[in-house]
Amino acid sequence: MAQLWGGRFTKETDRLVYDFNASIRFDRRLFHQDIEGSIVHVKMLAKQGILTESERDSIAAGLEGIREDVDAGRLVIDETCEDIHSFAEAELIRRIGDVGKKLHTGRSRNDQVALDMRLYIREQVIETDRLLKELLSVILKIMEENVETYMPGFTHLQKAQPVTLAHHFGAYFEMFKRDGQRMADIYERMNYCPLGAGALAGTTYPLDREYSAELMGFYGPTMNSMDSVSDRDYLIEFMAALSMVMMHMSRFCEEIIIWNSNEYQFVEIDDAYSTGSSIMPQKKNPDIAELVRGKTGRVYGALMSLLTTMKGLPLAYNKDMQEDKEVSFDALDTVKSCIVLFTGMLDTLKVNKERMEKSAMNGFANATDAADYLVMKGVPFRDAHGIIGRLVLYCIEKNTSIDALSLAELKAISEQFDEDIYEAVSLKTCVEKRLTIGAPGAEAMRRVIELHREYLKGDD
Ligand code: ARG
Repeated sequence: MAQLWGGRFTKETDRLVYDFNASIRFDRRLFHQDIEGSIVHVKMLAKQGILTESERDSIAAGLEGIREDVDAGRLVIDETCEDIHSFAEAELIRRIGDVGKKLHTGRSRNDQVALDMRLYIREQVIETDRLLKELLSVILKIMEENVETYMPGFTHLQKAQPVTLAHHFGAYFEMFKRDGQRMADIYERMNYCPLGAGALAGTTYPLDREYSAELMGFYGPTMNSMDSVSDRDYLIEFMAALSMVMMHMSRFCEEIIIWNSNEYQFVEIDDAYSTGSSIMPQKKNPDIAELVRGKTGRVYGALMSLLTTMKGLPLAYNKDMQEDKEVSFDALDTVKSCIVLFTGMLDTLKVNKERMEKSAMNGFANATDAADYLVMKGVPFRDAHGIIGRLVLYCIEKNTSIDALSLAELKAISEQFDEDIYEAVSLKTCVEKRLTIGAPGAEAMRRVIELHREYLKGDD
């Protein structure tokens, strides 16, 4: 057991206590950040005259050697150490001797772990944004190919008005775009360096916190040392943003599951993204979509867990905060793999344009447009609504659709109907007349698609 303390103790730590307290099993993930932070710390100490240049050089070289050896698989992270910080320091001292004992001057594990987590999460925020951008480009590609793929738009899962597949996917483009923007917001707020906060009250050494912050690409140092070691807001924000990503993917998955069903057959999930049944030979199940939907609960769990852990903690550092890691790492891994698989599933999704279009023609998705037609002929909207309601009832009884009725049948219900009704309620007209920005009409849609292209190019 390598532990960094013990001087004031007269007894060995109980084995169970040691294991319960240890975090190396999961904080080993912060190895690179820990080494980077330590190298910066000694550079700063030397610049301030707290360490000599030769002490700096041998500590930095020692740390770099540890990094190289772990990366190359020559050195195994020793899981009998209490945490990743103890491992790096013990290994350093083993390699370079007493000078290694100067590494921790003017630093506490409290600001050290706060730094390591920030460095790690900062990278992950960027990585999540990158994965979201890949998802957005696949969505955009599908939008571009389906500006004239007509389908029913739904409310209450009932056919409402015709839209296009481009428009439907466009809704998700907006959602995932906002998710990406949330990553950028989090980055802006979190990119301040806690190193130098010490255990809670700063240190008596003349540290140059601006310098450390600058070396690691932070905007500057954090402004309150107690807050610096106890702030997990940025992580909670990140979990909230990841929960939102999952919520959006989960809704999308739910639709794909419905659309992929035998009843709908709007889309077909590629064989590579489906699974079979061990008993029913005919089955091709949308397991990936279901798993993404299912894993959403797990990510929400991480958010709730962190909020609950933090809610009663007095300032400053408390060991409870060590609980920030396992759940957030798990949530992060989950979200990243879900985005990758979901992107692949969409990219290979087969769209059944005919089924969608046929479905949009049956089910009276053009009823509003038929009412609007009568309004254009001078009938007040409320009356037109009633007339079309009766027309729909007539069609249901005859098992037909508005556009399949003869002019005589139409005129029997309202004298206002003329030949031009067929054009007015055709699927194409219903969609293409919706031209205001944000609506599904092709012209409006193409303008939005152009904006999306610009956004993904990065010159938004
Ligand atoms: N493993 C601890 C954590 O994750 C590191 C900080 C420990 N500090 C302390 N005073 N015990 O929070």
